[in-house]
Amino acid sequence: MREKIAVLMGGRSLEREVSLASGKRVTEALTARGYRVLPLDVTAELVPTLRAERPDACYIALHGKYGEDGTIQELLEFLGIPYTGPGVTASALAWDKSVAKRLFVDAGIPTPPWITLTADAFKEMGAATALDLVPGVAGGFPLVVKPSKQGSALGLTRVEFPEDLAEALLSALSYADAALVEKWIVGAELAVSVLDGPDGPEVLPPVEIEAKSGLFDFNAMYTPGETDYYVPARLEPETTATIERLAREVHELLGCRDVSRADMVVDADGDVWVLECNTSPGMTETSLLPMAAEARDMSFQDVVERVVSGALSRRGTTAG
Ligand SMILES: Nc1ncnc2c1ncn2[C@@H]1O[C@H](COP(=O)(O)OP(=O)(O)O)[C@@H](O)[C@H]1O
Ligand SMILES: [Mg+2]
Repeated sequence: MREKIAVLMGGRSLEREVSLASGKRVTEALTARGYRVLPLDVTAELVPTLRAERPDACYIALHGKYGEDGTIQELLEFLGIPYTGPGVTASALAWDKSVAKRLFVDAGIPTPPWITLTADAFKEMGAATALDLVPGVAGGFPLVVKPSKQGSALGLTRVEFPEDLAEALLSALSYADAALVEKWIVGAELAVSVLDGPDGPEVLPPVEIEAKSGLFDFNAMYTPGETDYYVPARLEPETTATIERLAREVHELLGCRDVSRADMVVDADGDVWVLECNTSPGMTETSLLPMAAEARDMSFQDVVERVVSGALSRRGTTAG
């Protein structure tokens, strides 16, 4: 039998159900490849279980808070167990859209204009009296309002009119302590996955996303048939080249490891905008990374094995 891998899934994040679906598929793939697999729903029993079982590595199939924000990574560093995906710093940077976008701007990676407003700025400093300035600074309507730290489009609203801004902000701030107001880019949406390999980061074919409702929200992400996907994307070769370059730059800039997935939009002029980078991409039946891999003739099992081999290669080193 091969190494013992604990698959961490579920937990208390809002993306619990998505994570359970990812974890189930990852468990099946690792089992089929001959690993000894320990599927674990993350509860208060996690630490004693990991100490008793001493897995060779953890596969992080968690999404959202605690799984992607550095919390579980910090804990596994402390326990000395290697894990899939980036270390604490990269996890925390990518998870905070506001911080990640600032790094994109500094590195010359195009990201839509935006502003970040914290709940404290409203509560303590009267930020609500400056909402009239928001469209001017963030690039005009339509805008999108989203929590700074969340996934699966939860708490996200597309805003067409000034009078709807306050309610959208309230909704986003019920998910996180800060909200982004960002210019909505009209165009084609792409998800671009990067897998680390023996020759460095490998960019998989971009997946083009067309939600039938016009909004790639939670329902469109996880309900089969609600969204059309095109792999490879229907793009000019030079746009594809730009997208692939940007995905690699984002992966390296944030310090991603093993796998990442950048979400981008291409506008009518062919300009590419990076929205965000995910460090624990979904692995469900409708997820984008497995779709991209398939277009490169990599099976789901191949992807899972590639990702777990990254964690196993860090055994005996101080990861981070
Ligand atoms: N600025 C934007 N322009 C166009 N579409 C956007 C923009 N921001 C978000 N979206 C849409 O909302 C979805 C979710 O937003 P995203 O920034 O990826 O956050 P998350 O996936 O973490 O919830 C995107 O996949 C895209 O469909
Ligand atoms: Mg996204």
